[in-house]
Amino acid sequence: MRSVAASTDVTLQLDDIQAGALFERPSPYVGTYLLLRIEDRADGRELVRRLHRIAQPAAGADTADETSLTVAFTYHGLEALGVPTTSLDSFAPEFREGMAARAGVLGDVGESGPDCWEKPLGSTDVHVAIAVLSRDEAKLAAVAEGARKVHAELPGVELIWRQDCYQLGTGRTSFGFKDGIGQPAVEGSGRLPTNPRERPLKAGEIILGYPDETGELPPMPTPDVLGRNGTYVVFRKLHTRVAAYRSYLRDRAATRAEENLLGAKMVGRWQSGAPLAVSPDTDDPELGSDPRRNNDFGFGDDPRGFKCPAGAHARRANPRDALDHEGSVDVRLHRMIRRGTSYGPMLPDGVIEDDGVDRGIIFVFAGAHLKRQFEFVKTQWLNDGIFIGAPLESDPLVGAHHDSSSFTVPQRPIRRRLQDLPPFVVTRGGEYCFAPSLSALRWLAELDT
Ligand code: HEM
Repeated sequence: MRSVAASTDVTLQLDDIQAGALFERPSPYVGTYLLLRIEDRADGRELVRRLHRIAQPAAGADTADETSLTVAFTYHGLEALGVPTTSLDSFAPEFREGMAARAGVLGDVGESGPDCWEKPLGSTDVHVAIAVLSRDEAKLAAVAEGARKVHAELPGVELIWRQDCYQLGTGRTSFGFKDGIGQPAVEGSGRLPTNPRERPLKAGEIILGYPDETGELPPMPTPDVLGRNGTYVVFRKLHTRVAAYRSYLRDRAATRAEENLLGAKMVGRWQSGAPLAVSPDTDDPELGSDPRRNNDFGFGDDPRGFKCPAGAHARRANPRDALDHEGSVDVRLHRMIRRGTSYGPMLPDGVIEDDGVDRGIIFVFAGAHLKRQFEFVKTQWLNDGIFIGAPLESDPLVGAHHDSSSFTVPQRPIRRRLQDLPPFVVTRGGEYCFAPSLSALRWLAELDT
């Protein structure tokens, strides 16, 4: 197997690992997510055999064809393919339960609860998740047409959901902010860190079969061929209330500049991507678009959050060095790879009336630990404020706000408190998946149980 030498002491089998987790996508791009249900086991295995031929390995992903396909399975999908019970039981408990069963823990309640989710998200019908991304609409259409043909030839596999998505060249998503900047580097991936203050993560934090930050091998599904070089994937369709967000800020700001500042305080970055930690008073689009500088910062010199509030979304999601003095939390155990995309048209600039159109983000997480990475960050850092000394405050941008939600902006001479935050993000559904290695795809296709 061809491998790329690690920067330190690990060698990742990049030609066995699917490209999706480790490599950035082209920008701009268009894409499609497909969810399939396996009704007939033989057809399901034939589908996996064909997908194995076109799934892209991480090796050469930088130079390879610009259309990439990543495939992942839910617990029920692995079951439908006939994976033996001993093996199914070896997967992480959260994966076995599925996202809908974890809704109470994750804060997906009320209008974000599974009862209100878009069908068939969160149901046992979701078996296979496929992401196809391309720089080019024609190429994407060709792959989609290929998938349609496979589908026609395999009547025992049903296409049950499709969501088109895209990333703008600016990298901005529906609220207007550039996204996808704060990512950890991974040892052995051959990719350099964008934040020179953060050592690359041990490979086992993202890819199964390698030591993680604790020095141990993370629990890995058995048999070895199924678990090794795989990764857990979370996808969530998150509807964004852009008009409500814009009018909330407009009502609380005297000028457009103040509106932009309050928006930036909520996120921790200006819309351009420029971090408040580096440019606290004004946006700096050049900084925002400079990959050598836009992730090179910490919060250690801003413990009280005068530059970037402790409650800002990106600071909650990755407190960087802000918790170093506490000694009880190791931020490196709660990092994640994010591969989000936009869906629905952008609300034109300046519009503050709701046009009723569905728009938002398909949030995608990749990592080796569903519980201590995705679920920890969502529950302890985004939904809760205990760790920043504000137990009643949740994430101002993505929190499930209720009547009295507030957000504190530290400033001199007195802090500002934004009150009555409505929910700006509603969960439309999602699922916990497992993206196996290429050899595991072959193994799944050849199962004979
Ligand atoms: C609609 C929902 C969401 C929106 C609009 C959103 C938006 C953003 C934006 C604008 C940034 C700053 C740009 C960047 O650093 O890449 C960011 C960073 C981040 N978000 Fe979100 N996000 C959402 C949901 C989530 C969720 C559910 C999680 C995790 C459970 C999450 C985790 C992160 C992380 C880890 C970072 C990087 C922080 C850093 O390294 O500095 N986000 N998000």
